[in-house]
Amino acid sequence: MQICKTLTELKQAIDVLKNNRKKIGFVPTMGALHQGHLSLYHRCKQECDVTVASIFVNPIQFTNAEDLTQYPRNETQDLQMLEAIGCNLVFMPSVVEMYPTPADIKIYFGTIEEKLEGKFRPGHFSGVGIVVSKLFHLIAPDVAYFGQKDLQQYLIIKMMVEQLSFAVKVVCCDIQREPDGLAMSSRNVRIAQQHRDDATSIYKSLLLAQSILLSHSIHEIKKSIEQFYYPHSALKLEYFEIVDADTLEDISNIGINQSVAICVACQLGNVRLIDNLVVNI
Ligand code: PAF
Repeated sequence: MQICKTLTELKQAIDVLKNNRKKIGFVPTMGALHQGHLSLYHRCKQECDVTVASIFVNPIQFTNAEDLTQYPRNETQDLQMLEAIGCNLVFMPSVVEMYPTPADIKIYFGTIEEKLEGKFRPGHFSGVGIVVSKLFHLIAPDVAYFGQKDLQQYLIIKMMVEQLSFAVKVVCCDIQREPDGLAMSSRNVRIAQQHRDDATSIYKSLLLAQSILLSHSIHEIKKSIEQFYYPHSALKLEYFEIVDADTLEDISNIGINQSVAICVACQLGNVRLIDNLVVNI
């Protein structure tokens, strides 16, 4: 497994792959890898000739300085995991390598970025868009893999790729869950022991909403969800939204042939967790 830390090293490695007409699959990450990431790598390996990973905790997508400093980092273990699954190339730049001058540019994705996460993390998607654009330019992948857990991120990147004509296919991979239903996330290692049981209620709330999706109005579902969260005082609900799974627009009535995303964000102690369930009706 080749490790590149500079843009020059990366360019040389990518040029070799391109000259050999390899189909390049790319999985961008911020490290602290878990089974959820590995499922993206497995899919990438099945579908592409070479698998490229990036590990870069992108400072410009963090809206909270504490979240950035506390973001889990575990380079040694990440590299061991990538080696074990047969990743071919890892790009691990420093912040200065990626941003030798401050990234003054901003990307605005329109109304889709103002919903859900965008309401709570202003500027987050601009930072994601900038780093993913840079990585796509540098790596020029044929296919890039993203997790459904960050559904809004996937939709925004898909839109960016279509509207800016990036020559990359963007693939969304299923959410991977712990046996008790908690969606896998790098942030899970920061959940305090006494809060671990509460964390499972996030997925349970999505299942509850799904179970009454066709029999109750959106207003009634949201009321039931508020009651569901009420006894779990450790979980501070930030949003619980039932939206169109392609546009993230609010839904007033649920109809046949609709793809609905039930999306939730909670603060649990000092850890922010998100999850979603896409239901095809
Ligand atoms: O989903 C993530 O881990 C990050 O937002 C990404 C796509 C690697 C960009 O920094």
